[in-house]
Amino acid sequence: MNKKRSLTGDRPTGKLHIGHYFGSLKSRVKMQEDENLERFVMIADVQALTDNFNNPQKVRDNVYEVLMDYLSVGIDPNKTTIFLQSMIPEIAELTVFYSNLVTIARLQRNPTVKTEIAQKKEIFGESVTYGFLGYPVSQAADITAFGGELVPVGEDQLPLIEQCREIVRKFNSIYGDTLKEPEAVLSSNKRIKGLDGNEKMGKSLGNAIYLSDTDDQIHKKVMGALTDPGRIKKESKGNPNICMVAYYHNLFSKNEVKTVCEECKAGKRGCVDCKKQLITNIIKELTPIREKRKYYEERPEELKKILMEGTIKAQEEAKKTMEKVKKAMKIDY
Ligand code: TRP
Repeated sequence: MNKKRSLTGDRPTGKLHIGHYFGSLKSRVKMQEDENLERFVMIADVQALTDNFNNPQKVRDNVYEVLMDYLSVGIDPNKTTIFLQSMIPEIAELTVFYSNLVTIARLQRNPTVKTEIAQKKEIFGESVTYGFLGYPVSQAADITAFGGELVPVGEDQLPLIEQCREIVRKFNSIYGDTLKEPEAVLSSNKRIKGLDGNEKMGKSLGNAIYLSDTDDQIHKKVMGALTDPGRIKKESKGNPNICMVAYYHNLFSKNEVKTVCEECKAGKRGCVDCKKQLITNIIKELTPIREKRKYYEERPEELKKILMEGTIKAQEEAKKTMEKVKKAMKIDY
């Protein structure tokens, strides 16, 4: 009965792509085999609004897109509590309490927040909103509201977990031992590069393959992928180390990648054929996922039921935390 809690989540700002698939989704599915874990996955719509406050429809639409992506890769609502952040008012309440324990300077120094602010000039201009600057505080509330001890995340999230740990320590030192200090669990898969070789895969960069892409879309995207620019003819010797098609063969063609690279280096394989082989393998891997996705696309009531059942379970946990927090803070009237 000594189960550890894990909590993680995504901002619903777009459909999930194969970068998410290899980066976090597969490890979340794998974690479901661990009997000693109680898993929570949050669709962080309130956090998504911090930089999409002017586009609420986008966030709303993507709540269900992300949920369908989760279910179709095998995140199982019987093993993982999937819930919606905006339906947990305790998170907003905790955010207010924690905001006393964090300085503006500390938030401004958070490397992830800093990078994001620099990238989002078109939304924030020269002065960032209070809500966005403070999202690490709200993320600390996300984690602690459910007693999250393990937080499986990518590297970019480490500064947020560190900040959460600081908030927890400060809270406990002032109000008494109440909250659990979480620990980040780095997913073993590193970030997947885009089809164009960019370090980051994303919608705005147009270099991502989505779990929901059609055969046609996959075909078009792979055909446009970056290959060794020095390779002009089929006979010229290629360098798979600078070819995104080889890079993706490594993910999708485990049994063939060795031959692929050898033939490329020897000038015995044309890029077009090589791309076609990759397309076949990507489609093979994504077909069962897309079929499951289609099942849910046709059943919006079932989707809603899954999300609401998970959310009710999450609400019960957050209520328990709130009782403890208010008592510790002497506001338990
Ligand atoms: N900030 C995370 C991201 O952008 C999403 C997120 C929100 C999250 N709340 C969380 C991740 C709590 C881990 C734990 O991907």
